[in-house]
Amino acid sequence: MLQHNIVLIGFMGSGKTSLGRHLAKITGFDCYDLDDIIQRMTGQTVPELFASRGEAYFRDREREAVASLQGVERAVISCGGGVVLAKANVDNLRRCGKLVWLKAKPQTIYERLRQHSDRPLLKGKGPEDIAAMLATRQSLYDSAADYAVVTDGKPVAAVGADILGLLTGRAGGETYQAAGCSL
Ligand code: S3P
Repeated sequence: MLQHNIVLIGFMGSGKTSLGRHLAKITGFDCYDLDDIIQRMTGQTVPELFASRGEAYFRDREREAVASLQGVERAVISCGGGVVLAKANVDNLRRCGKLVWLKAKPQTIYERLRQHSDRPLLKGKGPEDIAAMLATRQSLYDSAADYAVVTDGKPVAAVGADILGLLTGRAGGETYQAAGCSL
């Protein structure tokens, strides 16, 4: 039996939203997606918010959305990739549940997102830009996470099984506790 909420963190395109839905389905937990909460809160999509109000405004709303989840139970929470940029978010999320870092290589992220136009921070960016941005966030994900799971080349169901293995103490495959892990 799972004792904790599951909080999914990681770079854009690492599979947090798909995994969140999948894990919610198989655990019976409620599914929360921070970007969806922000969109409902503001009545605007993420690209609209970045374009009309700027990133700082989005980050303020993101902090509010994280704070609004304090006290939820039996929940899977999918976070936006930049949630770890604010220490207050990490503190709140760590109070909320176990943080699982979904890891993906820059090339994987590029391939997964190249057809999507809803990530303002990746507009016109290639694999090298993604690698540079990921490098600036790597240590934040690493220090925030309780666990890390590699997602490259794996179907959602396999990553989901890895996560549940970790959280219930039956870990195997390419999963490991986060301390000091690298891509
Ligand atoms: C962001 C990630 C996005 C979204 C916004 C900013 C980031 O969420 O919150 O575009 O800074 O990494 P996903 O990680 O779900 O794409």
